[in-house]
Amino acid sequence: MPVLRDVFINLSQNQFLNSAAQKYGLKLGAQSVVAGTNIPEVIASMKDLNAQGISCTVDYLGEFVYEKFEATKAKEQIIAVIEAIRENGLDAHISVKPSQLGLDIDFDFCYENLVEVVEKAAQYNMHVNLDMENYERLQPSFDIFDKLSAVYDNVGTVIQAYFFNSQEYIEKYKNCRLRIAKGAYKEAADVAYQDKHDIDLNFIELIEYHLLHGKFTSIATHDHHIINHVKRFVKDHKIPNDKFEFQMLYGLRKDMQVELAKEGYNFCTYVPFGEDWYGYFMRRLAERPQNINLVTKQVFTK
Ligand code: FDA
Repeated sequence: MPVLRDVFINLSQNQFLNSAAQKYGLKLGAQSVVAGTNIPEVIASMKDLNAQGISCTVDYLGEFVYEKFEATKAKEQIIAVIEAIRENGLDAHISVKPSQLGLDIDFDFCYENLVEVVEKAAQYNMHVNLDMENYERLQPSFDIFDKLSAVYDNVGTVIQAYFFNSQEYIEKYKNCRLRIAKGAYKEAADVAYQDKHDIDLNFIELIEYHLLHGKFTSIATHDHHIINHVKRFVKDHKIPNDKFEFQMLYGLRKDMQVELAKEGYNFCTYVPFGEDWYGYFMRRLAERPQNINLVTKQVFTK
C-alpha cells in the first residue's frame, strides 16, 4: 500500500497530466469526489447537503499556480462563490490554499489576494479557512495566517498531525478556529511521522488539546476510530456540541456524514469544485487506494 500511495502522490504532482486532465473534464471517476466544474453545479451540490443538515466548506480547486493572472482569476472566482453562497442563503464557508492565490509567486501579492477574499467574506459574516499544503509552504502559510488573523477574526487554518512541530502550532494558535487533519502530502522523515500509528496518536492529542483549550475545532477525518474516540471524549469532558464539528470530504463515507448530522453533531462537508481537479483526486487515491473502485465503477458503467 505505501508503494501505491507514493505512485499517486507522484502523479498528483505531475503538471503535464494535470493540464491534460483539465482538457478532458471530470473523468476517471473524479466526479464522485468533486462537486462539479462551475459555480451553478457546486451551489446545487451544497443545497443538497444543507437540506440534509450538513454545512459546507467550498474549495475552488487550483494547483501549480505560478502566474499572477492565474492567481487573480482564482481570487475572482472565489469571490464569485462567496456572492453565490450569499445569494442562495447557503450554510457554507470558504477553504482556500495559499499557493492558489500566489504564495509561490510573491508573499505580498498572495497576502493582498487573501485580504480581498477575507474582506468580502467578512461582509457576509462568513469564515475563511486557509488550507495547509506541503512542508515547504508550511511556514510561509503560517506567516500569512499571522498577518491575516491579526486584522480579521473570520479566518482559521489547519494543523497537520503528521508534522513533528504540530504540537507547537496547536499551542500557538489555540485562540483560533482550527481544522485538525492527519496531513495529505508526502513528507520527509526528518520533519514528519511516517508511521500511521504515530500520526493517529498525535492526531488524537492535538484534537483533545484544542477541544479542551482552544476555540472552535473542526475534526477532519473519515476514520471512525478517531470519530468514536472524539464522541466519548466530548461526552466525558462535557464539551458542548457548539465547540466543534466533524468534517469529511465530499463523496466519501456519505452515509456516515448524514448519520453524524442526524445524531446532532455539527457536520461540515469539504466541497471541492472546478476544472483543476486532477491533483486533488490523485491525493484521495493516495490516501485510500480502495477509492480506485470509484474509478473502475465510472469506467465500467459508462
Ligand atoms: P485514514 O486515511 O488515515 O484512514 C483511517 C481509516 O478510516 C481507514 O483505515 C478506514 O478504516 C477508514 N476510512 C478512511 N477513509 C474511508 C473511506 N473513504 N471509506 C471507508 N472507510 C474509510 N490535509 C492536508 O494536508 N491539508 C489540509 O488542509 C487538509 N484538509 C482536509 C479537510 C477535510 C475536511 C478532510 C476530511 C481532510 C483534509 N485533509 C487535509 C486530508 C487529511 O490530512 C488526510 O489526508 C485524509 O483525511 C485521510 O486521513 P483520514 O483521517 O481521513 O483517514
